[in-house]
Amino acid sequence: MPILNRAAEMQEEIAGWRRHLHANPELNFDVVETAAFVAEKLKSFGCDEVATGVGRTGVVGVIHGRLGEGPAVGLRADMDALPITEATGKPYASRNPGRMHACGHDGHTAMLLGAAKYLAETRNFAGSVALIFQPAEEGGGGGNEMVKDGMMERFGIAKVFGMHNMPGLPVGRFAIRPGPIMAATAEFTITVKGRGGHAAMPQATVDPIVIASQLVGALQTIPSRNADPVEALVVSVTKFHAGDAYNVIPETAEIAGTVRTLKKEMARKAEERMRALCAGLAASFGAAIEVDYDANYPVTFNHERETAFAADVAAAVAGEAGVHRAIPPLMGGEDFSYMLEARPGAFIFLGNGDTAGLHHAAYDFNDEAIAHGVSYWVRLAEAALAA
Ligand code: NI
Repeated sequence: MPILNRAAEMQEEIAGWRRHLHANPELNFDVVETAAFVAEKLKSFGCDEVATGVGRTGVVGVIHGRLGEGPAVGLRADMDALPITEATGKPYASRNPGRMHACGHDGHTAMLLGAAKYLAETRNFAGSVALIFQPAEEGGGGGNEMVKDGMMERFGIAKVFGMHNMPGLPVGRFAIRPGPIMAATAEFTITVKGRGGHAAMPQATVDPIVIASQLVGALQTIPSRNADPVEALVVSVTKFHAGDAYNVIPETAEIAGTVRTLKKEMARKAEERMRALCAGLAASFGAAIEVDYDANYPVTFNHERETAFAADVAAAVAGEAGVHRAIPPLMGGEDFSYMLEARPGAFIFLGNGDTAGLHHAAYDFNDEAIAHGVSYWVRLAEAALAA
């Protein structure tokens, strides 16, 4: 059973919303206009409840089915853009300089609005659908804010599902896996405090650049020597700042980066080893080394039953051959992870076709994917809430 006829009919209208959102990207929790647009649409569809300000700037729309009482299923989209200068050259390119929808959250929001319109028209389910539009997916933890705001309890959400587009996966295809599907992320900043001085008299200094350089190499031994080779662990140093002059050994050097893992124990081990290496190098070189380690998003963990269910729904839309049920996990982070810690559910990828990659200035959400994504949401809600 392929995409829904009604979803295909609505494609142009939904693409119009998508392009409007694309042209007006907002960052983080400051998605005020986007949230207002979403709330206005949900009201116009006749949603039974439209709650704004959930988790600061999140929006939740509720639609009751006509087939009786029951729990709610949560369908989640994200609304925020990225601090990137757009280079698509599209007529609906960003009007906000330095910001763009480079992760397709414009498409996610538009598709969930399309599903809301369909579900409000038809209501072929028991219980209710909670349409979750979250702010601040790109690092702000908006999903966590909504959970902490009591969203699951307030709307009686029993299960929760998320979807993200995937460049490289053909349009109309889906990909998913049970268990960890995206990584836990952490950010670290390490400050090496030595003793500055004249570059011609290094013996009178404690050179933080030499120490920090040793540290960059030493950190590579966390994944290569401390981690089980079959477990996923990434430690990447992405910043190295020190010094201002040719003839001065600076007082401090700062390095920073990210750690990605698929298991909590690995995340703990990486932090422990990082602190031990810093303490050891500080002692051996006579410097002081400060570690600021900030655990960020947890692992996005797909629950077994709900993943099989979501894959079956995807197969109803795309055919069994159109669903990859065991893709390798991705080492990117995703803050839908917090919702999956609060309730059982699953996160699925939707093909975006042969486009530029996520977070690239030339990326654009593929409107051809809309009918597939909307059909998935509608079928999922109807199947999860069958009377
Ligand atoms: Ni994204």
